Amino acid sequence: MNPEKIEIFDTTLRDGEQVPGCKLNTEQKLVIAEKLDFLGVDIIEAGFPISSPGDFQSVQEISKIVKNAKVCGLTRANKKDIEVAAEALKYAKRPRIHTGIGTSDSHIKFKFNSTREDIIERAVEAVKYARNFADDVEFYAEDAGRTDNDFLAKVCEEVIKAGATVLNIPDTTGYCLPEEYGRKIKYLRDNVKDIDKAILSCHCHNDLGMATANSISGIINGARQIECTINGLGERAGNTALEEVVMIIKQHPDLNFFTDINSKMLNEMSYLVSELMGMPVQPNKAIVGANAFAHSSGIHQDGVIKNRETYEIIDPREVGINESSIVLTARSGRSALAYRFKNIGFDVTKTELDFLYQEFLKVADTKKEVDNDDLKFMMKSFTQKIG
Ligand code: KIV
Ligand code: ZN
Repeated sequence: MNPEKIEIFDTTLRDGEQVPGCKLNTEQKLVIAEKLDFLGVDIIEAGFPISSPGDFQSVQEISKIVKNAKVCGLTRANKKDIEVAAEALKYAKRPRIHTGIGTSDSHIKFKFNSTREDIIERAVEAVKYARNFADDVEFYAEDAGRTDNDFLAKVCEEVIKAGATVLNIPDTTGYCLPEEYGRKIKYLRDNVKDIDKAILSCHCHNDLGMATANSISGIINGARQIECTINGLGERAGNTALEEVVMIIKQHPDLNFFTDINSKMLNEMSYLVSELMGMPVQPNKAIVGANAFAHSSGIHQDGVIKNRETYEIIDPREVGINESSIVLTARSGRSALAYRFKNIGFDVTKTELDFLYQEFLKVADTKKEVDNDDLKFMMKSFTQKIG
């Protein structure tokens, strides 16, 4: 069976930009949108047009410049939001309106003081109304992660009838276990009439650190779109990280999926978003963290120097990093030291190495990391000593 495509829906500029301190101006958003388009994402969620004049303008300008991806605008389930989003998207080659409403009992009772019947009615009206402006309408069932599966299936069935082309099943609070989220997707595939008329989409939050695992469980169980952000940015603990799902799909051909993302751009994409949003990436972040391809313990370094695959499951060049790094610390061994000396032009003999290693340990115990300047200084003192 041929691998199936997973659509990548990037929401860095909407869910990601909601993060306190991550606000971007229109110019910055345009730079990111253009690069996301080059990266190969299928859909760019450009913003929530009714939320502010700035967001409206950003969605409109992004719509004008994006060449390949669909451009999407978020709305609540009401006419005004939908009209404003449609207006903001009017220059998009391939516009998508993303409308929806909370479906969990908690949202129905506390947010809307409403009933399940009324929620279905509002959902259907919103989708029908949005279809007047766009052929592509995605419906989100907010807090689907905590929504009763029978009711969720009913909502999905009704919005498909109303014309929804994509069904977003958000685990808004990041509560679901991967197996539970996967079962939810499977339940919808098995129980919603005409489910083949729509694409099921995973939109997972990371409150319990399971956003990526849940998204992968979702596609294994029948979803064909993942909503994600660069560096996993997003409300609270963030969203599914784009770079993670893309590399999981790539490194696991056994899953039999593919994406259209050019993985060699992941590192520069991460850097750009981090710089423009002023949001540093944690060093141990999977795929794009500074330490993702750095080895510091002697045992690992020795293995990687002999063969990279002993401790690396991804070739760093696949994500746009030139090479793995061998970091010199007090836990490093002789082979790492010899390797680093070689990198700066010194091919040391075994006897030289024995001596230099003792000098290295003295320096390493006083510093977190020994750098090339330290190595050059060590080599200079050594050559002066031996005359
Ligand atoms: O997390 C969520 O439920 C959302 C929706 C608005 C799609 O971001
Ligand atoms: Zn979200």
